[in-house]
Amino acid sequence: MVKVDLGGCSSFVNDAEYQQYVDKALDAFDVLESETGAGNDFLGWKHLPTTTPESLITECEAVRDLWRAKGVDLVVVIGIGGSYLGAKCAVEALSHSFARQLSARRMPEMVFAGHNLSEEYLAELLDLMQERNVAAVIISKSGTTTEPAVSFRPIKQLIETRYGSAEAAQRIVAVTDAHKGALKSLATQEGYKTFVIATNVGGRFSVLTPVGILPIVLAGFDIRAMLKGAAEMEKVTAERSRTNPAVEYAAMRNLLYSKGKKIEILVSFNPKLQYLGEWWKQLFGESEGKDGKGIFPASVSFTTDLHSMGQYIQQGERILMETVVTVEKSSRSVVVASDPQNLDELNYLTGKHVEECNAMAELGTKLAHIDGGVPQLSVRVEKLDEYNLGSLFYFFEKSCGISAYILGVNPFNQPGVEAYKKNMFALLGKPGYEEQAKALHERLGK
Ligand code: PA5
Repeated sequence: MVKVDLGGCSSFVNDAEYQQYVDKALDAFDVLESETGAGNDFLGWKHLPTTTPESLITECEAVRDLWRAKGVDLVVVIGIGGSYLGAKCAVEALSHSFARQLSARRMPEMVFAGHNLSEEYLAELLDLMQERNVAAVIISKSGTTTEPAVSFRPIKQLIETRYGSAEAAQRIVAVTDAHKGALKSLATQEGYKTFVIATNVGGRFSVLTPVGILPIVLAGFDIRAMLKGAAEMEKVTAERSRTNPAVEYAAMRNLLYSKGKKIEILVSFNPKLQYLGEWWKQLFGESEGKDGKGIFPASVSFTTDLHSMGQYIQQGERILMETVVTVEKSSRSVVVASDPQNLDELNYLTGKHVEECNAMAELGTKLAHIDGGVPQLSVRVEKLDEYNLGSLFYFFEKSCGISAYILGVNPFNQPGVEAYKKNMFALLGKPGYEEQAKALHERLGK
């Protein structure tokens, strides 16, 4: 379960001002709980951990078992943004770091597509698909997003050419809206098994819908444990209390923001959590960055990035705060070996677990960064498994809703993401965008 510790902020704020922000966080909590705030038609995520039916999980398991029976060894998951990052984060966090290279590798291998428009990436993915026994999941709530739709065409074509249309329909599954969007129409026409994303759950809050559940089940992970961890946090963060961890975290990050800490860096000392940082950046960035406001979310992986970003964090512009996600116990054991020559003078570490070195690096970094003017918020879980990942997902979602309401923005819309799309459509010659295309070409001098 998630624990929050704000001790690393104590030299930057005083208790009276922190209590004021807790009051603001409790007001925001009330708005979220009473479902009276902006975007309140997108609050379906709040009770997903405790309301997800067992039948949804067994339906996902049926797809997994069918594909296992067919010998599928590569599942391509196509989606972008909220329809990609939760599943990617879970697969990265829970898989063996060298799953691809191990001889006894876990099957099927999960790969992702539709999260970019790189021709090279897509062509190389198709090379891989040619060599493997493949199936695909296409995920798009709107069913109209360009990146996954563009990627899906050649992937669909390859699967149909290889296996024929009838078999392809058994090897492609869609996750989309119940009624609307091009993907829904296509899935109905082609006879794809379809999972529904509830209308009242937005993309970045959808990891505990079939958007995340299906790929996580297909990858062989324990979704019931993940939902249990999330359910525990649903319960804990539903308490109207000054020690509710989501209230504490939301209050402190907003107080620090009011003091000029405009950038929050999500830090982890476990490289498997790199994509937790990517998922978290979308969650907070898209929810809070609007109306000229919002903490800019960034992420680093330590100790790796201490050798690249460490200098800036220690001594650059003092606009940073850090939220360190700590995994308390390693699931594996390696100790530092003794070396009779001791040329590297590391024998004082002999017999110590590498994780102890990592923990001391974490503690040393915390103290150094505090001394350098970077407050530290600490978010801790006992170990890296499905249960704790589920609790992290829910904790950050709830904190994000509270935090955005403190800031005074609608956490559940994203009007700003349309701007690039309109330009892209116009430049690509999409029908209906002729006027905009003309204006853009004039501006570009073409
Ligand atoms: O959070 C969001 O709403 C977005 O990031 C979407 O998830 C992303 O744009 C993908 O949208 P869709 O699932 O409709 O393809």
